[in-house]
Amino acid sequence: MANIGRSMIEYYERCGLIVNDQVVKTPVVIASMAGVTDAAYVLARKEHIGAAFIGGYSIDEETMAASRSMAAEGRAEFLYDDPVAELKAQVAALQGSGVVLGLNLRGSSPASYAAIAGEIGDSVVYEVDAHCRQPAMTALGCGEALLRDAHRLMETVRALKAEGVTVSVKVRAGVTGDDRRLARLLWKAGADIIHVDLMDFGYARLRQIRNACPLTLIANNSITSFDSAMEMFAHGADMVSMARRSDERTLAGIDAAIQRKAEESGWYNAPKQLCRGGDIRSLAFCCMPVKHCPLLPFLESIGLSREDYMRIKREAVDGTPIEGGKTTCFGSLAFCCKSSSPCMLREISVKAAGLSGPEYMREKRRLAGEIMERVFDGVPGEDEN
Ligand SMILES: Cc1cc2nc3c(=O)[nH]c(=O)nc-3n(C[C@H](O)[C@H](O)[C@H](O)COP(=O)(O)O)c2cc1C
Ligand code: SF4
Ligand code: SF4
Repeated sequence: MANIGRSMIEYYERCGLIVNDQVVKTPVVIASMAGVTDAAYVLARKEHIGAAFIGGYSIDEETMAASRSMAAEGRAEFLYDDPVAELKAQVAALQGSGVVLGLNLRGSSPASYAAIAGEIGDSVVYEVDAHCRQPAMTALGCGEALLRDAHRLMETVRALKAEGVTVSVKVRAGVTGDDRRLARLLWKAGADIIHVDLMDFGYARLRQIRNACPLTLIANNSITSFDSAMEMFAHGADMVSMARRSDERTLAGIDAAIQRKAEESGWYNAPKQLCRGGDIRSLAFCCMPVKHCPLLPFLESIGLSREDYMRIKREAVDGTPIEGGKTTCFGSLAFCCKSSSPCMLREISVKAAGLSGPEYMREKRRLAGEIMERVFDGVPGEDEN
């Protein structure tokens, strides 16, 4: 037990990831595949993942009937008569596995989701499947149909939140007219996680979502290598998920490379500098606003004045090892670049502060978190609905 405790602390220090009050060992996630991804599938891969979304599971009479008709047409589906018993058995099988568990669910009404959460409890994440395109499901108003009916989707999120559980929403990019607005609505409705299938939109769409809300983001679609995972991490992803390529070999390779990166750099999902296409977290690396560069238009786009930007950063580093920085351009490491951009002046101040390279980046990670908290202070107002 003591060992498990210690290693979980180490995992937390390395990646800084908590979901549903549990440490996520690694930002590698298994995404659901109906009829395939269940507890046994996850257990066989548990050494290389931090979280998994099993399912999709149909959770009421209407959606279970849809599953049966889809199965009759040859599609793989999970079939059972009692969804509560089935889900309880799946959850029990994964208890103590060290994997943060999510249930990918299709229900025909918000009440169906709430009823399942009431039965299963708060030890798992509830993922609303707003992704499924099967006509038998969309005809019931679930799956991707939820993306075309924002009100119903938000009602579903609110119904789950009223049960006191952690909520993820699995969405497909490009279905609603505006994924930024979708992200803000989900945030406002109380969702905790957006699990986004980026389709062909790639990291540019992910960055837009990152800049629109503070929710935990899981990037999905065609992640097959460490490089494709890093592309997502550098543009706003907290985690990456894999469905078709969730074989043990691929997961193990990506996990090992991320762990190395986290150990060596101190921040596995550090953003690019803002002027190189980074997201809102890049403000942690930005200079003082003294020249014409992408910082000023970016601050304007998020509605932050120069003065507030300076104040937020100064207050966030107050009393921390990156407050000082006599040898640096702006007299504080708060305004210094990423450790991957070589700079002698910064190195001198980093050393003087008693920090190693990875420690400097972990301080920047903390700073980025504080900036996000301050920028996204309070949920969006009614007028943004
Ligand atoms: C056979 C199969 C079944 C799937 N079933 C579900 C599902 O039930 N719920 C869901 O949200 N996504 C489902 N997906 C979508 C995947 O989770 C994922 O978003 C998609 O395959 C793209 O990611 P990938 O490139 O890693 O496979 C399914 C995908 C496949 C290939
Ligand atoms: S402030 Fe510095 S790091 Fe930020 S965009 Fe401008 S030049 Fe790039
Ligand atoms: S001291 Fe170096 S790292 Fe810091 S702002 Fe100046 S150029 Fe960037």
